[in-house]
Order: sequence, then C-alpha cells, then structure tokens
Amino acid sequence: MASLTIRKLDDAVKAYLRLRSAQNRRSVEEEVRVILRDLIEGHEVPLTAFAAPPAPAPTSQRASAVPEASVTLIIGGGIAAYKSLDLIRRLKERRVEVRCVLTKAAQQFVTPLAVSALSHERVYTDLFDPQSEFDAGHIRLARDCDLIVVAPATADLMAKMANGHADDLASAILLATNRKVLLAPAMNPLMWSNAATRRNVAQLQRDGVVLIGPNSGEMAEAGEAGVGRMSEAIEIAAAAERLLRPPVPRPLAGKRVLITAGPTHEPIDPVRYIANRSSGKQGFAIAAAARAAGAEVVLVSGPVDLDDPQDVTVKHVESARDMLDQVQAALPADIAIFAAAVADWRVANAGEQKLKKTAAGMPPLELVENPDILATISKLTDKRPPLVIGFAAETEHLIDNAKSKLARKGCDWIVANDVSPATGVMGGDSNTVHLISRKDGEMAVDSWPVMTKEQVAIELVAHIAKSVTGGVTGKSAETAS
Ligand code: C5P
Repeated sequence: MASLTIRKLDDAVKAYLRLRSAQNRRSVEEEVRVILRDLIEGHEVPLTAFAAPPAPAPTSQRASAVPEASVTLIIGGGIAAYKSLDLIRRLKERRVEVRCVLTKAAQQFVTPLAVSALSHERVYTDLFDPQSEFDAGHIRLARDCDLIVVAPATADLMAKMANGHADDLASAILLATNRKVLLAPAMNPLMWSNAATRRNVAQLQRDGVVLIGPNSGEMAEAGEAGVGRMSEAIEIAAAAERLLRPPVPRPLAGKRVLITAGPTHEPIDPVRYIANRSSGKQGFAIAAAARAAGAEVVLVSGPVDLDDPQDVTVKHVESARDMLDQVQAALPADIAIFAAAVADWRVANAGEQKLKKTAAGMPPLELVENPDILATISKLTDKRPPLVIGFAAETEHLIDNAKSKLARKGCDWIVANDVSPATGVMGGDSNTVHLISRKDGEMAVDSWPVMTKEQVAIELVAHIAKSVTGGVTGKSAETAS
C-alpha cells in the first residue's frame, strides 16, 4: 500500500489538514483517511480552505493558531512524566503540533486519555497497534515531524537508544528517525552518575542527540537530592524551539547597504523614452538577501514590474540623473552595490511636447552621456563606501571587459555576467556570474556555477559578510597595502 508523507504536501494543504484534524480531534493521518473515505463514498468534503487558508491569528490567540512545526513527544516512565503534560501545553503555545507516544511504564504515571485531551491528537502506545501499523506507523511517527523530544528520558530508555534497541514503539521510533532528538533525562542521582549511564550519555552525545538537563534538586524519593531532576517544561519547550527555529545569523546587522537596480528610462519626449531589457530581479534579490542578513537596505530602483522587498527603503526613479541624486542622498553607506542597467546616454534635446511626424523626416535626436553613478561613487574621497561593487553585463570577452571595467571605474569588486540573448539572463530567473576582485595587487576571478538570481544574491551577500566581518574590504585593503 502506498504511504503519504504529510511533510511533503504544500503548505496550504498541510495547514488545512492540521486545522481540520485539530478541530476534529484526530491525527492528521486519520483526517486524511476520513477525507479519502468520504470522497470514495461520495460524501461532500468542504475543501474551500485550500483557496483561502485561514488568516494568521493575532498574537494573543497564538495557542490556537495553525501549527508551524511538529514534535513527536515520547513520554518515558518516571515520576517526572506529569511535567510532560505541561510540556504539551508549552509546545502548543509555541505553535507546535504535538503527537505523543507513551511507553508502557509511562502509562503508570500519566494516562493516554489525559495526554490525548491536551495534545488534541490520539496517543500512540503500541508498536503492534494494527490501526497505525498497517502503514508502518512507527516510521511515520519517526519522520513526519520536525523534532523528537523524549521527556522524561529514563536511564532505561537512554540505554536502549545508545545500543540501538527497537523492541517497543518508543525505541523503534528513536532508531528509525532521521530527525533531531532532544532528551530531557530524569532519574535518581545515583542512576545518573552510574558508569553505565555516563557511557550511554557520552555515546548519545556522539550520535548527535541533544540533552537538556537534568537539573539538580530534591528527588521524589524522600530525603534524596542531587543531579537527576527533569528540566522544567518551559526549559524543555525553549530548547525544542531553539532546535525547531534556530536563530537566523545576521552577519550584516548594523551595516547600511545601498543598491541600485533595474533599467533607467531616458525621456525622448513626455510619452517616449529610451530603455533596456533589465528586469531588476538581480538587484531586488540582493536587496532581500542583504536585509535577511540584517543590513539596513536602501534600494534605488528604475522602473520595474516587481514588488518592493519587505523592510527595505525603496526609492523609485526614472532616469540616470534621478538615480544618481537618490544614491548621493542615501550616503553614507558601508556597502554599495550597483546592479542597475543604467542607460549610457540620454537625449540632450528631449521634447517638452510630443514629437510630431513632419514632412521634413525624422527629428534629429542628439545624445549626451549620462553620469556614471558607479564611477562617481567609487571616486568619492569623503563619503566613499568602504566596499563598492559594480556589475558588468557583457555579450563578449566577458572577463577581460569586466577586469578593465573594475580598473576604469575604481570599484572594489565586479560581478560579471554574460547577457548574450542565448543565455536568457536579461529578464530570466538564473544567472552565471564571475566575481572579480583585487587580491595582492592582482585581479582574482571566482567563477560560480549557474544559479537562480536569489542564490547569486545569497552567495554575494555571504561573500560581502565574510569580507566585512573579516575586516578586509576592497578599497581599505588596497590603501592599507
Ligand atoms: O559601463 P557599464 O554600463 O557596462 O557598467 C556597468 C556597471 O556600471 C554597473 O554596475 C552599472 O550599475 C554601473 N553604471 C552606473 N552608471 C552608469 C552606467 C553604468 O552606475 N551610467
């Protein structure tokens, strides 16, 4: 029989299934079975939620919001099992869906009914449960989640895990999983300090298992104290959250990045202009990547058909001269990236009124050179950004032309790309670039494989972050040497 991996479904479908199953107090898998059965039997299934997934709930109602992650919680047999009831609530508060597995011993301390009531899901207890095993339920419990938490992790469960046993549902899940595992050990201090447990803990840590606690304090056994108390539910939930949503590195935090993007439109008269085929996609992707890396970003964009990236200050301009004005107004900046395809020329005698056809033939259009924004900023003495990056879009002699552009314009790096029509780069979604920089008085060429424009942006921002945090930027390194 075919099996279905819920994790691989579209986000909207997953959200719909999770919401429906939570409302019906069923596991997601059971919900899928019910939907399929209803469809086969010809019943109506309300699928409108696909078209309009529920809007995110306000923060105050987060506990009941659509879950964003899922945990399989294995509750081991120890007195600390009562704290796992609170842990279920703490995880759900953090928008984590929790599916619980109880070992045989755990059922001596908490009942499946209580766990099910709190998790709003059925509880799994048996490796040979015909209901869930017909499609290898222990494999699903091991893999259809983002994290496995074992709380309390008893000495016995840890020993089984360290030695690869799989003779009950909990140990089979732990052996079959490819997810991260978080253990919250709980046991008597003598069991915790026993050489066998020490060996097992060391082995589990070598295997990549993460431990939270145990804490030190009084034991349930009268008069006993020491290290062995299970961490509090809130500590375990916070540790789970760190593993589920690791903090995003922000290497450009505190840096100001200025980016130009898109084409420019140079007026011929009030209704006509000179333009080029630049879509602005690469510059916009760089703006988004720099913002994601924590930078404050100013994006000066020519006319494009793109949405403004989130949390980026966007200055919309038409002509090269407007672009230069906005770039100068945005200084100072730590890093400036000139990805715009600025028109080299503009019409000197742009008409105030629409040009008319005349018997005298075509009106003469006199072209004058536009300011070179990249060269102007690279040659500033006072407000020059410490790292200035230009682009070289070429159709022939790519590397040679890009190298001479780097020298001529005075920038620190050039991102060279072939824009011959056959490459589909202009307006397309991928790009093949070569990063040219100065190294020890020479020009170094780093050729990247074909990537999407988003990947190029992320890679470029990673290079920038490395350069900036390493304290080496083009110009300062140049002048220092
Ligand atoms: O000379 P070329 O247009 O090939 O140079 C490309 C690089 O110079 C790009 O980084 C582009 O944004 C920048 N440029 C500019 N102002 C111009 C022309 C090009 O900033 N007027």
